[in-house]
Amino acid sequence: MNRTLRWCAAILGIALAAGCGGGKVSSDAPAAKSPYDAGPRAGESPFANVFATKGEVLFKGKGCSACHAFGQRLTCPDLKGVTMRRTSEWMQHQILHPEIMTKEDPIAKELFATYMTQMPNQGLTQEEALLVIDFIKKKDHELGVIQ
Ligand code: HEC
Repeated sequence: MNRTLRWCAAILGIALAAGCGGGKVSSDAPAAKSPYDAGPRAGESPFANVFATKGEVLFKGKGCSACHAFGQRLTCPDLKGVTMRRTSEWMQHQILHPEIMTKEDPIAKELFATYMTQMPNQGLTQEEALLVIDFIKKKDHELGVIQ
């Protein structure tokens, strides 16, 4: 191996170690950072039962339950624990503008790369998104993810 070749091999080795070559993000890689995901997790603030009940109706009526379950991975992310993974703000953006999030938000981009499905915009209002988030918080509470 001459000098130049050795250098190339070394640089390639560094690039691969840093994850440039692989494309897929390994599970022990640091989680992607999103400007919407800074601060307390959604599940750290309280939910109201009356909102959660309305949110449950929306979760079924707006088609979320066709793709998402709790404690079980259907074709899309398992929503169990999502309220401790994300902020309320991030979840609102994901619910209201999923088609923008998978293009611009680092976390949503990673999810898209994993599930290879685009979450559709289900046309919720912000108020409806908040009701659904209260339902998801209630679920996490029942599942013991939120104390
Ligand atoms: C066609 C299937 C589908 C439907 C319907 C759908 N989603 Fe999704 N959802 C996805 C996929 C796929 C992702 C991952 C991001 C992507 O690839 O678009 C996702 C991501 C999410 C996330 C983030 C999950 C995480 O681990 O961070 C939340 C929260 C979410 N969806 C809530 C909802 C809600 C609430 C509804 C109903 C208003 C809904 N979704 C409807 C497929 C769906």
